[in-house]
Amino acid sequence: MLDFIQEVIDLSDKIDDRRRFHEAAKPWLLKMGTPEYIHKVFEMNLMDNGFLQRKWSTYETPFLYLFENNHFYLKYHVFLTVKSMDVEKTTNIIHHHNNYLLSSLAAFGSGYYTIHYDKKIVSNPDGTHSLKRTRDFNHLPGEISFVDSYEPHVVFNPSELSATTVLWSPDKKQITDNLRNHPLVKPFKKLLIRIIHFFGASRQLGVAEENVCQYYLENGKYYAVKETEIFESFKAEMGPEVDDYYINALALFMQKTNYKNTSFLNQMIKKETTPETWKKYLTQLANGEPINEVYGRETLYIPNGEMRKEDLLRAPSI
Ligand SMILES: [Fe+2]
Repeated sequence: MLDFIQEVIDLSDKIDDRRRFHEAAKPWLLKMGTPEYIHKVFEMNLMDNGFLQRKWSTYETPFLYLFENNHFYLKYHVFLTVKSMDVEKTTNIIHHHNNYLLSSLAAFGSGYYTIHYDKKIVSNPDGTHSLKRTRDFNHLPGEISFVDSYEPHVVFNPSELSATTVLWSPDKKQITDNLRNHPLVKPFKKLLIRIIHFFGASRQLGVAEENVCQYYLENGKYYAVKETEIFESFKAEMGPEVDDYYINALALFMQKTNYKNTSFLNQMIKKETTPETWKKYLTQLANGEPINEVYGRETLYIPNGEMRKEDLLRAPSI
């Protein structure tokens, strides 16, 4: 196991209050955000055949795995720029992460601008919604930002490729946590979740609610769209081109952090089990050839196709 992970496991075991656990884990997150550490994590991911073979889907953020147990997980997320370099546009629509708490360290790159909203969203009779802005700030390199469970927020396009070290955990230690990855429960997970939804117990039990909505702004008013509708539009987008795009993004990220362990890279390139797409980008990394720039999506799954900073900051805030 890589350095510092055991310390976070110990904190998680000792501290039942999950918000206090996130607070206590901050110094370790900072240590996990250095380029040297990121390089070790990259190599750990490359040694995992499951990761190399994974089929990416366009609703995911490019990521590297760091650690996962039943109570929390650690990853790196990569935020790509958009080709237009328009940092006044959001990269997604207003969303929350259900019962998950998120601590994210802006570990690399420019970081990004973000707006947070109050958890309480008012539904109006005309079908629109009222939201209250609580914070807006630049999530800057070296800083850790906390997103509470059910806290709506939105992120803007970064001005440079950026990466965050992210710590995720449910907001309560649940009796179901140890069941989540239980081999006997896994086959029945979908059925169990349907039963939980049927009884309306999602929030108490810490599973994602069935009709989770995301919100967008149009002509000064907020509208809701079901999360399932957004995800379904992306889920179909999988295949070799999608895999190429994600692997390209990860290789570009590593090149920007000056990763160049040629002996390790050459070992990976020679390995028969390494997929061709990985070999292509690892060869470019090993040879120091500039890796192709890849860009994030310019348009969002909403009628206007975009949300802009000035509109969001000008919109009524209850
Ligand atoms: Fe988010």
